[in-house]
Amino acid sequence: MASTSSSLMQLALYLLACALSARAESYSLSSSVVGTQFNDAFEYQAIADPSHGRVNYVDASTAKSKNLTYAHGDTFILRADHTSYLSSNGPGRDSVHLTTTATYSTHVVVFDIRHMPQGCGTWPAVWEVGADWPNEGEIDIIEGVNDASPNQVTVHTGSGCSMPSERAQTGSTTTTTCTSSNGDNSGCGVRDKDDDSFGPDFNSIGGGWYAMERTSSFVKVWFWPRNSGSVPGDVRNGGSGVDTGGWGTPVAYFPSTSQCDLESHLGPMSVIINLTFCGDWAGAAYSNSGCPGSCVDYVNNNPSAFADAYFDFASMRIYE
Ligand SMILES: *[C@@H]1O[C@H](CO)[C@@H](O)[C@H](O)[C@H]1NC(C)=O
Ligand SMILES: *[C@@H]1O[C@H](CO)[C@@H](O)[C@H](O)[C@H]1NC(C)=O
Repeated sequence: MASTSSSLMQLALYLLACALSARAESYSLSSSVVGTQFNDAFEYQAIADPSHGRVNYVDASTAKSKNLTYAHGDTFILRADHTSYLSSNGPGRDSVHLTTTATYSTHVVVFDIRHMPQGCGTWPAVWEVGADWPNEGEIDIIEGVNDASPNQVTVHTGSGCSMPSERAQTGSTTTTTCTSSNGDNSGCGVRDKDDDSFGPDFNSIGGGWYAMERTSSFVKVWFWPRNSGSVPGDVRNGGSGVDTGGWGTPVAYFPSTSQCDLESHLGPMSVIINLTFCGDWAGAAYSNSGCPGSCVDYVNNNPSAFADAYFDFASMRIYE
């Protein structure tokens, strides 16, 4: 009798756990951002680039009048200036830095992207960050430099957070220490294995979908190329809900463990989209990237090389 009731109890607990975990993987659409809605969801920040890029981030009216952002139908373009020659002691190349006014904690964000900035010296990023860096964390969803594929996903935190090197992800762990500071800003990184995840390769197939799920116990990032046969229906259709339980193994998985109490390291986050040139990463990697001359000279003197330095977003959807 005792053993029957205890196994019934175990079964009940197991079913309850399944129900709870299934519920945790289901989210409802809270914000659908398409075309001109990007101008409502995001603020333009004409700030100095803390990563010392050869960039001049412009305000909203300048961006719109110079057609650096353009919204029509289901298209939102964000680009750099590709017509101006720059004087070596003047400001950098005009570009755009967007931040959502809303912040998000437990959520899923899905980006449908047709094109990302390409060209020598480019450093595009789609990421999330808390108000108090690094203590409230940073999650870099799409980032890379100088057209080098594949994509790198990185988490940055305050002190006391590292990741196991072996975990349930398809990408490869590059670094395991998430703790970051102004002096050491590598973070814990995961490199995708799919070259289509970044730069000219991504653009040549018409891009694809990026998704990030953040809960109190993990961060996961997925990428599906446009031509993939395994894009989940709820990702492709951008409907009223998503169930991440059906999305398969992510490219990058950052679990909460005894080495990192993730929830205490991640605050409410804004989504940021920006495009800089050279600077701390693209500039440092430039000479080994197969790109000509010096990064800053190239950016100053070759405007037409930045004609393809643009994002084309079909949508950004947030589920909570
Ligand atoms: C602005 O950019 C968009 C997207 O690249 C383009 O279709 C449009 O023709 C441009 N408008 C002007 C006035 O150049
Ligand atoms: C984007 O802007 C942030 C500052 O908000 C900066 O730290 C980062 O390096 C920039 N990245 C790119 C790719 O412009």
